[in-house]
Amino acid sequence: MTAVIDPAVTAGSTDPLLPAPVPGAPGVRRFSVQQHEVLAAVGPGTPLGEALRNYWVPALLSEEIPGPDAPPVRVRLLGEDFVAFRDSSGRVGVLAEHCNHRGASLYLGRVADGVVQCVYHGWTFDVDGRCVQAPTCPALAGTESLRQRACAVHEAGGLVMVFLGDPDNAPPPPDLGFLCVPDGARYAAKRVQPCHWLQALEADTDSAHVAYLHREDLLAGAADRLTGIMLEQTDPELVADTTEYGLMLAALRPSGADAEYVRINHWLAPWYTVVPASNPAGLIGLHAWVPVDDHHSLIFGLMWHPTRDLTAGERAAMMQGRTGIFPELLPDGSYRARRHPGNDFLIDRAGQALGAPWSGVVGNQEQDDAITSSMGTAYDRTRENLVGTDDAVIAVRAALLGMARDHAAGLPTVGTAGLGFDVPSVFFEHDRTADFRDGLAERYRDGQVPAGAGQKGAGRR
Ligand code: FES
Ligand SMILES: [Fe+2]
Repeated sequence: MTAVIDPAVTAGSTDPLLPAPVPGAPGVRRFSVQQHEVLAAVGPGTPLGEALRNYWVPALLSEEIPGPDAPPVRVRLLGEDFVAFRDSSGRVGVLAEHCNHRGASLYLGRVADGVVQCVYHGWTFDVDGRCVQAPTCPALAGTESLRQRACAVHEAGGLVMVFLGDPDNAPPPPDLGFLCVPDGARYAAKRVQPCHWLQALEADTDSAHVAYLHREDLLAGAADRLTGIMLEQTDPELVADTTEYGLMLAALRPSGADAEYVRINHWLAPWYTVVPASNPAGLIGLHAWVPVDDHHSLIFGLMWHPTRDLTAGERAAMMQGRTGIFPELLPDGSYRARRHPGNDFLIDRAGQALGAPWSGVVGNQEQDDAITSSMGTAYDRTRENLVGTDDAVIAVRAALLGMARDHAAGLPTVGTAGLGFDVPSVFFEHDRTADFRDGLAERYRDGQVPAGAGQKGAGRR
C-alpha cells in the first residue's frame, strides 16, 4: 500500500487532485472551483458521473417490489429517472421512467403477466425493455430499436443493484461480504437525505468529529482509557493508504509515552464506507452513499455477522434505529428519518444545554445526518478551510478526482473488477515506535478482527 495523502507533500502542492494552500493561513488548504465542479456533478456526461456509471449502484430494497408482478416504484439514480418492477417469475426490471412512445411515466403503468404497460396508449415492455406490444402501431411490436432503456440488474441479499452503463459491459457485481451470508445473518435498510452524496459520506471518514458531534457517547464511556483519549486528543493524525478496494483510513492518537491509539476505517470505491465501532458482538456495518442527483442521496445501511444469524434483539435494534448506522425511520414507508431537516431534527435545546445529547440531536446516525444536511444540499467546497484532521476527507476526494480523470482517459478505475469488500474496521493500541500497519497485520494474523472481516472471502458460509 502507498500513501495517497502525505501532509508534507500536500502543503504547497499543485497536484490537480489535491487542495491548494490558503495564503496567510498556515496548514489550511482549499479545493479549487474546477475540482469542486467535478466532485459536485453526477449526471450523464459529467466527468465523475461517467466514472460512477462504471460501478454497480445499490438502487432499492427487494421489499419495495415484494412479489411477482409487483407494481412499479420510482428510482432516481445519478440524476436519471427509472422505474423498477417484477415480472411474473420474480425477475426485476429497471427501465427508464418515461415511455419511449411519448414520454408518459411508466410509474403509472400496469404490471401484469410479466410486463409493464404504459396506460397512455398501451405500449408494453418486459424487464429487458423489449416492446412486446404497441397497440397504436401493432407492427412495431418487437422492434429492436424501440427497446425501452433497461439497466442490468443484480438482486442479492435483499438489495437490488443496477448498472447504469452499457448492460453488455457490466462488470461482476461487487463481492460484498454482506451479500454472501444467509438472510438470517444480515439486515439492510435505506433512507433518503436531502444533500449531496459525498457530503453525507464524509462524516464516515472524519474521525475528528466524534469528540464533538457524538460527545455524549464518549462521555458515557470515558471510564475506558482509550475512549478518554478520544475526548482529549481532538486533532488526530489522519493517514490514507491506497488499497485494491479504495482507501484504508487510519486515525492516530498518542495514548502514552510510546503508545498510539489507532482507529481504522475504509472507503470502498466509489460509495461505501466501513466505520470503526465498539462491537464485541462481531457485527460488521457498511454504508452505501448513493447519489440520487447532485442534491439528494440514498443511504443504505448494511449490517451482518459473518458466522452466525443475527439475534432477535440485534435485528430489533436495527429495525428501530437503535444502532449507530441506522436512524429511526418514519413508519409511513417513505424511508425518511423521523428526525429530518423539516423538523430541525427535533433538536433538544434543553438537552443541548445539559450536554445530553451534547449536539441536541438524539441518535448517532441522526447526528451525522443533521450535520451533513445542515450544510445545504450541495455545499461549495471552495469555501472550506481544510486542516490536517480533514486529510481523510481530502484523500477520498482526491481518489474520486483521480477516478474521473482516469475514466476519461480510458484507464481502469479502482475496485471495478468485483474485488473482495471484506475489510476490517478495527481499533487498537500499539507501540508507537512501530508502524501501525504492522500492528494491524498482527491482528489479522492473531484473529483479533471479526472472522470474515479481515481477509477477502474469509469466514463465508
Ligand atoms: S406514451 Fe406510453 S404508450 Fe403512449
Ligand atoms: Fe459521526
